[in-house]
Amino acid sequence: MSDIWTRLKTHRDAQGEGRISDLFDADPARATAFCTEVDDGAEGLVFDWSKTMIDTGARDLLIELAREAQVEARREAMFSGEKINETEGRAVLHTALRNLDGAVRVDGQDVMPAVRETHERMKAFARDIRSGAYRGQGGNITDVVNIGIGGSDLGPYMAALALAPYHDGPRTHFVSNVDGADIADTLKGLDPATTLVIVASKTFTTIETMTNARTARDWMAATVAEPAAQFAALSSALDKTANFGIDASRVFGFEDWVGGRYSVWGPIGLSVMLAVGPGRFDEFLAGGAAMDAHFRAAPLERNLPVLLALTGIWHHQICGYPTRAVLPYDNRLLRLPAYLQQLEMESNGKRVAMDGSDLTLPSGPVVWGEPGTNGQHAFYQLIHQGTMPVPCEFILAARGHEEELAHHHVLLAANCLAQSEALMRGRTLKEARALMAAKGLEGAELDRQARHRVFPGNRPSTTLLIGQLTPFALGQIVALYEHRVFVEGVILGINSFDQWGVELGKELALKVEPLLKGEGAPGHDPSTENLASRFRQMRG
Ligand code: F6P
Repeated sequence: MSDIWTRLKTHRDAQGEGRISDLFDADPARATAFCTEVDDGAEGLVFDWSKTMIDTGARDLLIELAREAQVEARREAMFSGEKINETEGRAVLHTALRNLDGAVRVDGQDVMPAVRETHERMKAFARDIRSGAYRGQGGNITDVVNIGIGGSDLGPYMAALALAPYHDGPRTHFVSNVDGADIADTLKGLDPATTLVIVASKTFTTIETMTNARTARDWMAATVAEPAAQFAALSSALDKTANFGIDASRVFGFEDWVGGRYSVWGPIGLSVMLAVGPGRFDEFLAGGAAMDAHFRAAPLERNLPVLLALTGIWHHQICGYPTRAVLPYDNRLLRLPAYLQQLEMESNGKRVAMDGSDLTLPSGPVVWGEPGTNGQHAFYQLIHQGTMPVPCEFILAARGHEEELAHHHVLLAANCLAQSEALMRGRTLKEARALMAAKGLEGAELDRQARHRVFPGNRPSTTLLIGQLTPFALGQIVALYEHRVFVEGVILGINSFDQWGVELGKELALKVEPLLKGEGAPGHDPSTENLASRFRQMRG
C-alpha cells in the first residue's frame, strides 16, 4: 500500500473530533475554495464539496494519491483505445459513442466510421417511426417496449424518465424482470398492431431478456400477421438476432469495447432517441462529450470527476463509511440511483486488484438513494440520527420545467439546501434542552426528551448544482459519474470494466431450474434442496 494511504489515514486520525463547521471558521474562503465549477459553454455545473472533512491537507494528499496512481496516464490510455479492460482483453471506448467527430483506433483499425454509420441508421429509423414512414401493422407506432436488463435497461429507462419534458415521440415502456408480472403489466393495454418491441441485449443470450422477448413475440403473433416485422434488436450478436427473425435493417450493433453499463450512448439508447427525437438525443451525447473534454483537459485540482472520486475515496476508504446515498432533488431522476448502483457497484465491487492479488483496501461502497423530498419522509431519520454517517450526494437543478409551478421548485430547492445544512450543523443538547424547556418540560423528563432531539451533525455531503435537467445536462451528469467510477477504480488498482461476480448466480440458476421442476438435479446443498422441495409442494 502506498505511503500516501497511510498519510491520509494519519491525517484523518489527527482530525479527531474536529467538525466540518470548524473548517469554515478556520478558512473564510472555504465555501468558494471547495466549490468547483465547470464552464462548458452552456450553463455550467457547480460542485460543492465544502461540507466534508476534506481540509486543505487532505485535499492535497488526495490529489497526490490520484497523481501517484497515474490517473492522467490511465485516462489517456482509455480515451485512446488501449485495452485497459485487461481481464477481458478489451478497449473501453463508450466515449467514442458520444464524440462522433473523434478519431480512435483499436487494433490499428479506425472504429469511428462504423460508429457513425450505426448512429446515422438509428437516426433514420427514429425519423421513420416518428414520422409514420415506418408503420406497425395497425397504423403508426404509438408505443415502444424496450426489453433488456442491467445495462440494457437501466440507462435508457433512467434517461427516458429524466427527459420526460422532451418526449414528443411514441410512449416508451421498459421490461427487465423475468418475473412474468413485469411483462404482463407492461403489455396489458398496449395494442400489438401499433407497438414496436426492441430487444436490447449485447450478447442476445441473457436468459431474462430472451424469455421476455419470446413472450412478447407470442403476444404480438396472436394479433399481427408478421410479428418479427415489429421487432428491432440492439445487439452485437448478429447471428442470434437473425435466428430470432429480426431483419438486419432493424438491428443496431456495437462493439465489445462498449460495456453494458456504459452503453446508453449508442444503440442501447434507441428507445430514448425514439421518445425525444434524434436532435435531443444528440444534445445528450454532446453533454457527455463536454464532460469528456473537461475530464481530459482540466488539471486534477479542478477536475470534477476526479474531485467526485476523491470525495468518494475519502469517505469510504479513509473514513470507513460503508455506504453513500445519491439524493437527486429532481423527481425525474427517479431511476438515477438504480442506474448508479449498477454503474458503481458492478464496476468497482471487486476483491482483487488488476494483477490478481487481494485488495488491501475496501473496494467500492454500497450506493443507494431516492429522490428528495420523498426520501426525507422515509430514511433521512437514519441519515440524521443513526449511528453510522452516510455521505450524501445531493443533485439539484436551479430551474424546473414547470414554469407555472415555480413555487414548487423553490420549495424543493429549499429542502435540498436545508438538508445539507442540517446534516452539517446538527442540533446540540443545549439547543434541544432549550426547545424542551420552551415547551414547559423540566427535570428528568426534559433531559430524556431533549436527548432524543439531539442531531449529532458533522455529517458530510456534496451538492451538484445544474441549470436545468436538459438532455445536455443529463449527458454531463452521466459522464461525470462514469468517469468518477473510472478514477476510483484506477486509484484502487482494480478493473472497473469486467463483472465476473454476476456469473456464478447465472450458472447455478440453470442448474436449479430442473430441481424446481422435479426433474432431479443432485449436487445442491441441503438448504436449497429443502427449499426446492417445499416450493414444489406449495405449488401443488
Ligand atoms: O448483469 C450482468 C450483465 O452482463 C450486465 O453487465 C449487462 O448490462 C447485463 O448483464 C445485460 O447483458 P446483455 O446486454 O448482454 O443482455
